Amino acid sequence: MSAFLAVEYSDGKLKLIDQRMLPIETQYMICSTLAEVIFAIKDMVVRGAPAIGATAAYGMLIGALTMDGELNIESMRSIKSALDASRPTAVNLMWATNRIMEALGQMIEPTRSEIINCIEEVANAIYREDATFCKTMAVYGNTLIAHGDTILTHCNTGALATVAYGTALGVIREAHYTGKNIKVYADETRPRLQGAKLTAWELVEEGIPATLIPDSVAATLIRDGKIDKIIVGADRITSNGDTANKIGTFMLSVLAKVYHVPFYVAAPTTTIDFDMKSGNDIEIEERDAKEVTHIGDIQIAPEGINVYNPAFDVTPHENISAIITEKGILYPPFEQSILNIKREI
Ligand code: MRU
Repeated sequence: MSAFLAVEYSDGKLKLIDQRMLPIETQYMICSTLAEVIFAIKDMVVRGAPAIGATAAYGMLIGALTMDGELNIESMRSIKSALDASRPTAVNLMWATNRIMEALGQMIEPTRSEIINCIEEVANAIYREDATFCKTMAVYGNTLIAHGDTILTHCNTGALATVAYGTALGVIREAHYTGKNIKVYADETRPRLQGAKLTAWELVEEGIPATLIPDSVAATLIRDGKIDKIIVGADRITSNGDTANKIGTFMLSVLAKVYHVPFYVAAPTTTIDFDMKSGNDIEIEERDAKEVTHIGDIQIAPEGINVYNPAFDVTPHENISAIITEKGILYPPFEQSILNIKREI
């Protein structure tokens, strides 16, 4: 188990490990206002779909606790809208705020303290469940890993991206802890470098044998037969299995298909958008040009150059071998296996 918690709530304060500073410094941001929680999500102090979901749930609570005017369903709706607008692609955010609004919707003319108690209860449940889901997913995912496998992963899907353990990196952790003698290649993940800064840090901390590569090296490794499996996380999976994940994931899935390497997505069912038909409908967040023109504060590109910087891409379901969830492993046809899961929830 990792020695840190990316998200931790107590007594009106949300403590977030500041992922912008890792691995050089371990600093925390304490959020005690709604504006601070929104800033933390937007600026990627906290990141990764499940961690963003848990943060948004506590953001609803902090918004309610610090509300100046009357606290009612209407004012909660505006807190929800402000949180939902902070990052558009990871569905866990809206899923968490929706779940809270649904619970509030069951109450008849609730008092201020009833509203607050209800939100706290749901936020704590979301938090607890995420940790359990990740561990369960890891156990299921580990059944797909063979002794001695070399696994390629992209972005950060570890304990930093979730409440605990991780999604794709959770599967990798589990394989390592169960003595499967695996090796990992971690893409650096331009432009935010979540692979270099965060995944590499988690792998080193856990003593999992790993090699960091520029994203562009993956094709050579895959072609040369050096990769047995690719495992990535997800920010939103639509009802046909199309999967939005960190930019660069789609490219890996195409390589996996050409060279017959199994391509797995690991994500809790909270990342499945059952109401969305296909990946064409997913809103893809575009981020600041400075993420591309600069590395940290150092400018590397000329002034005046145009930049296109989508944070995510969509991997079509045809390129995915299986989706690992806490409810089990889903296989194609995903439209059917996802529908079966929906009926179970
Ligand atoms: O922009 P980020 O860092 O929030 O994006 C996160 C990802 O895309 C991860 O790869 C991930 O799979 C989702 S979180 C487990």
